[in-house]
Amino acid sequence: MTTERKALVVGGGGREHALAWRLHRSGAELHVAPGNAGTAGFATNHPVNADDVTGQVALAKELGVGLVVVGPEAPLVAGLVDALEAAGVPAFGPTRAAATLEGSKIRAKELMQRAGIPTAGFRVFEDADAAEAYVRGAERPLVVKADGLAAGKGVTVAKDAEEAAGAIDRIMRQRAFGDAGARVLIEECLVGPEVSYHVVCDGTRAVPLAAAQDHKRAFDGDQGPNTGGMGAYSPPPMVDAALEARIRAEVVVPTLAALRDEGTPFRGALFIGLMIVDGAPQVLEYNVRFGDPETEVLMARWGGDAWPLFHGAATGDLSGVEPAWEAPAAMTVVLASGGYPGAYAKGKPIAGLEEAAAHATVFHAGTAEAEGRVVTSGGRVLAVTATGADVAAAAQRAYAAADAIDFEGKQLRRDIGWQARPSRSRD
Ligand code: AMP
Ligand code: GLY
Repeated sequence: MTTERKALVVGGGGREHALAWRLHRSGAELHVAPGNAGTAGFATNHPVNADDVTGQVALAKELGVGLVVVGPEAPLVAGLVDALEAAGVPAFGPTRAAATLEGSKIRAKELMQRAGIPTAGFRVFEDADAAEAYVRGAERPLVVKADGLAAGKGVTVAKDAEEAAGAIDRIMRQRAFGDAGARVLIEECLVGPEVSYHVVCDGTRAVPLAAAQDHKRAFDGDQGPNTGGMGAYSPPPMVDAALEARIRAEVVVPTLAALRDEGTPFRGALFIGLMIVDGAPQVLEYNVRFGDPETEVLMARWGGDAWPLFHGAATGDLSGVEPAWEAPAAMTVVLASGGYPGAYAKGKPIAGLEEAAAHATVFHAGTAEAEGRVVTSGGRVLAVTATGADVAAAAQRAYAAADAIDFEGKQLRRDIGWQARPSRSRD
């Protein structure tokens, strides 16, 4: 291919660092907006916020890039891809209409129901009193979800009616998440391990990426509050070839067909959150963008040329693109600021990054440069990522690198990938 490879990645977290890194390793000139101290090492950062649609389109035009990869969901839901397409710039990510799959959990459930995709039973309520009466009469655990985007905080897995009623009150009466709480979704509570499954789509075709598992709780043993994700690994041992075939046949194929039939063909990364119940996949949610920190392990495992994957999805032609896995396994350990996901300090100098780089790739999630030093600037600070012949080998390298890094208040989980590491088994 002789076309010039020049790309803009929108966002500034670990996911965007990993996406930009992989594209850079595929020979592309990289720009990131806003980026972070990690992307500054090999790309040009631009001070434009991820959800500034007008600013991002102007930047893409000014740079003359041949590809824009949109990381986070907010600009997708705000229509950044529509605006880029209108300006003639190939964009990786769904249009605003297709992004409602994540922007409205009710839309997603209704699509699953119509397409016969396995998912928990559900009811939709527009009225808080009716929703409350329903949960009080149900006498079983239920899951209460705000319909719209709520920064990952709109879901309550309620052990009893009281907790469910409290969630309804916060979402619908107090409007804790604003208009996202105009309607509420109440689901049957499923039990089983969770798996993240990603596919890259061009509107018609899908290139399946490898399965991964995130670790959402803050502390070891899946204790403590929910976070954006404290670590991930791939592949999860429970996803064997037979289960993966079921995921593709029962979930991926009908989801993409339903989106096409509804006039919103999907381009970009579709992240399917699954629960494996009695060996069968059930869809918990769709995200219309890559997961974070799942992307870090997926990009680390990917070995081939990544340009055709991203550019092909953006331009509607993934024909001939096959998954190109090089590393059999990968793991990401997140180093977070002390106190995260609650209040935390910023601006703490980070030491040991060079030493860590001997063992692993250190993606930056919340960092900045101050007076020539790399300092903390977010809750999740670094996503320390290593590959290996198996998950245990990847873990050994990832933790060696994680231990080489130091900043005041550094917080991490020691049991990432316990599902695939016999010595970390909890049975
Ligand atoms: P969501 O944002 O919809 O994926 O929900 C966030 C988290 O809530 C999921 O990762 C699950 O841990 C949990 N969850 C969501 N839906 C259900 C369900 N129907 N049954 C049990 N747990 C659920
Ligand atoms: N790792 C979960 C997410 O990105 O939503």
